[in-house]
Amino acid sequence: MSVPALRLGVNIDHVATVRNARGGALPDPVRAAVLAIEAGADGITAHLREDRRHIRDDDMARLRAEILKPLNFEMAATEQMLDIALRIKPHAACLVPEKRTERTTEGGLDVIGGRSHLVPFADQLKRAGIRVSLFIEPSLEAVEAARSIGAPVVELHTGAWCHALAEGERARAGMEFQRIRAAAALARELGLECHAGHGLDFATAREIAALPGVVELNIGHFLIGEAIFTGLGPAVRMMRQAMDEGRSSIP
Ligand code: PXP
Repeated sequence: MSVPALRLGVNIDHVATVRNARGGALPDPVRAAVLAIEAGADGITAHLREDRRHIRDDDMARLRAEILKPLNFEMAATEQMLDIALRIKPHAACLVPEKRTERTTEGGLDVIGGRSHLVPFADQLKRAGIRVSLFIEPSLEAVEAARSIGAPVVELHTGAWCHALAEGERARAGMEFQRIRAAAALARELGLECHAGHGLDFATAREIAALPGVVELNIGHFLIGEAIFTGLGPAVRMMRQAMDEGRSSIP
């Protein structure tokens, strides 16, 4: 099988986090999105959270109107978010679990216990022509359950693996990486499009890029942090390079 291309989705949520710290209009996440695209991003991801802690409704509307690459709308499976997604009609929607008290999306969706809740959301988004993905734990059971929900795309949560690496827990990191590898392979076998994201940096993106089943990475926090030191354009270009290096290591 030939190796598919690997897309980079840049998540610009944390440009809005910095803006909101002062309550004004700057820095503008839409300007960041335009810059990221100019530097080689294949798409832009933004998460409109229930508490609007970073991205706000008007950011989503402006992103949809002003960027020339696909917009991936991360959203909780709630009626309010569904209404907004159906109105804005992004290229893609990624359903994610959301808790008010968490700092970031801490785990994957409960695609097994939450199946009956998720099916109507996936159906309505698909009927509107929006590509639906489910943000899931990297497990075989979750991939199977995601398929039974009818989503054409899964995004594997790489956070546990990145966290284990950052903590120096090599054995656990090795195990987590094997879970990601197996889940990506199963997704590919089942005909699901497989994405990955959460906590990725240059080194971890390079490793994930070497998995042929994965066709898109969504990366935010690290890139926005790097942008403080190098500028967003160079940070995106370096990420693109790391991903290309990982991809080209596939025999
Ligand atoms: N993918 C999903 C579904 C996410 O919820 C997030 C975090 O918002 C990311 C990717 C990006 O994670 P990070 O900001 O850690 O790169």
